[in-house]
Amino acid sequence: MFGENEARRCRADFPSLARRHEGNRRPLAYLDGPAGTQVPAAVIEAIAGYYRSCNANTHGQFATSRESDALIAAARETAAAFLGAPTGRTISFGQNMTTLCYSLSHALGRELAAGDEVVITQLDHEANRGPWIGLRERGVNVKEVRLRPDGRLDYEDMAAKIGPRTHVVAMGLSSNALGTVNDAAVARALSRAVGAILVLDAVHYAPHFPIDVAALDPDYLLCSAYKFYGPHVGILYARPGLLEKLEPDRLRTQDQTAPERFETGTLNHAALAGVKAAIEYMAAWGDGCQVTAVTGTVDRARC
Ligand SMILES: Cc1ncc(COP(=O)(O)O)c(C=O)c1O
Repeated sequence: MFGENEARRCRADFPSLARRHEGNRRPLAYLDGPAGTQVPAAVIEAIAGYYRSCNANTHGQFATSRESDALIAAARETAAAFLGAPTGRTISFGQNMTTLCYSLSHALGRELAAGDEVVITQLDHEANRGPWIGLRERGVNVKEVRLRPDGRLDYEDMAAKIGPRTHVVAMGLSSNALGTVNDAAVARALSRAVGAILVLDAVHYAPHFPIDVAALDPDYLLCSAYKFYGPHVGILYARPGLLEKLEPDRLRTQDQTAPERFETGTLNHAALAGVKAAIEYMAAWGDGCQVTAVTGTVDRARC
């Protein structure tokens, strides 16, 4: 049960909630939900702690570098547990969801010819529309599933628009504008029937519902940690085996295997410490959730 005591305890976890209005000295209320959540002390401490004791690049044979490698691996495992993914090797990190989605559309776009089709929706955030609409420059036919006047997607229109030339279906799990929760099972069934890739935008959904990629069965799923008490980091889940076949923008010199294959340059290691701490923070509020501090994994079976 989440009662008044829990609310008080929860408020105390967030330093920003102690801030008062400069004029009337009343406690500030943060109502701009779509702009992201406030950040608990545990996340702030994890980020600061990385800079205090561990700041290094990866793959060195010295303590702080080895610890950075371990931190990144643990952040991947924790994010995988959060999403119900089988392993941390299905998780790539990036600057934010939009940047990851652009990288994905560029990479998948390389597989498409003029006249091939991508299906998006009128309900989606521009971050899951613009990167696909950009493929029109290559002659790709980008179709938009209609939004009904009641705020729901028109699934008959979706069925009519997904066809033999559809290569990608990109849909949000829920809308940041209206709160509509979309039917991922319908999108999966329709896309699977024609062999199309399903890309799910879980940015708005992730802070509100548990995500289980094993049940949702997307090929790619994107979310953003600043929407669930973390720092500004984008997260991409890729079905095992898919990234290896993809041609994302990348350096010849970087790791060519998944999930690093999809990541360019140096990751924001301190922020990844924050992503891990944010997921552990949420798990700690769950009923009987267990967080294993050493590995950073969340025991979903008990959540
Ligand atoms: C549903 C949805 N998708 C995508 C995005 C873009 O996420 P990011 O800011 O991480 O690029 C947002 C941001 O508000 C969003 O609400």
